[in-house]
Amino acid sequence: MNGLDLYAKVEEYLDFSEEVRQLHKYFLIELLEKDINSCLDIGCGQGELLEIFALNGISGIGIDLSEKQIEFAKLRGVDARCIDLCNIDEKFPCATATFDVINYIPNNELTKFLTCAYNALEDNGYFIFDINSSFGFEEVAVGTLSIDNDDNFINIDANFEENILITDITLFTKKKNDTYKKEQSFIKQYFYSEEYLNNMLKEIGFTIEKVDQFNLHSDEEADKLIFTCIKK
Ligand SMILES: C[S@@+](CC[C@H](N)C(=O)[O-])C[C@H]1O[C@@H](n2cnc3c(N)ncnc32)[C@H](O)[C@@H]1O
Repeated sequence: MNGLDLYAKVEEYLDFSEEVRQLHKYFLIELLEKDINSCLDIGCGQGELLEIFALNGISGIGIDLSEKQIEFAKLRGVDARCIDLCNIDEKFPCATATFDVINYIPNNELTKFLTCAYNALEDNGYFIFDINSSFGFEEVAVGTLSIDNDDNFINIDANFEENILITDITLFTKKKNDTYKKEQSFIKQYFYSEEYLNNMLKEIGFTIEKVDQFNLHSDEEADKLIFTCIKK
């Protein structure tokens, strides 16, 4: 199983839901203030944000590269599809990418990915996304987490070196005969500075409206930056 699908399987056991709800609230408020009624959610995961959009009168389509995430999102009743961003041929007044999606994209694919986000927007459309700050990677994301439930045991071990966070995920799932099935994989996240992204976004044709600091997992320092860009 690839890392994205294994992450999809363990996500419900990670105790992030209240924090992620606060992050999603930021995006919702931005869309409501901008009077946006339709949005493409890139890397939609299990579809929570699409559900929040729908409850607030914003229609949305979600895309994700993980088949497993899309399976979970569909159970929520949202329109979620396992399609590559570059294969989207509709245009939207807004696109979002929340909770680390941009950090999943390797450096040699980032210009193409952001260009495809640009191409999926109508003129004057908004692209709003978050990234992890260096504090977020160096101080918050690293470490080990073990979760022991009746039916499974999860171990997550994250290390940040040379601007890459590697998160090893191990899942033991209890089977009917009391033996355990072991699944193991990893995900990589890449650090991008604000300046680096600003330059890349401008070269693609975006205007940057603002970059906000956001405290997701930490009260000390912002562990995230949220970019609001416009296709001009
Ligand atoms: C931490 S999850 C966040 C999910 C969701 N946006 C949220 O706010 O809960 C990151 C998601 O990005 C997806 N992802 C990673 N690379 C992607 C890519 N190139 N295109 C689309 N989705 C991608 C992963 O499968 C995963 O569902």
